[in-house]
Amino acid sequence: MNIVLCGFMGSGKTTIGRVLARYSGYEFVDMDNYIEEHQEMKIPDIFERYGEPEFRRIETQACRDLGAGDGRVIATGGGALLKEENADALRKNGTIFFLDPPFDAILSRLRASKVPRPVIMGKTDAEIRAIYDARIGAYARNSDVRMTLSAPPQEFALAILHRAGLR
Ligand code: S3P
Repeated sequence: MNIVLCGFMGSGKTTIGRVLARYSGYEFVDMDNYIEEHQEMKIPDIFERYGEPEFRRIETQACRDLGAGDGRVIATGGGALLKEENADALRKNGTIFFLDPPFDAILSRLRASKVPRPVIMGKTDAEIRAIYDARIGAYARNSDVRMTLSAPPQEFALAILHRAGLR
């Protein structure tokens, strides 16, 4: 079985995913890192050099590769679950959890983060909010369990483990 985490950038997928992997003994895989290692290129460079459609194609292949494996906690990139096809691939051996903390918490994490994110680079808070609003329905539709609780990563991870039947 895989535990798949989806949600907007800054929703805590990587942080909570690492805790979950520690608690469950599963291997942690960050999809963006997986892509960077396979392409031998950083995500912003892929966007700049080849454009977003090519990044999305690579991302779909990563969903297929990782979805076919087993025993992993997979933190997806914030755009991966916008495509139903990607969700289907990731659900093959797993359950998809949508991390849905309040938008204000997401925004403050994004503002504090040093991770370069081409989709929101140079955008105002209102513009980021508009992207979030446009995406939230797809995350809800394409996931299996929506986790709306606002809690520290450890608590969040325990709640997911419980819902996954692992604790
Ligand atoms: C993206 C989110 C990023 C990364 C890429 C595109 C998006 O991942 O995959 O920059 O479209 O939301 P994180 O959610 O880990 O920041």
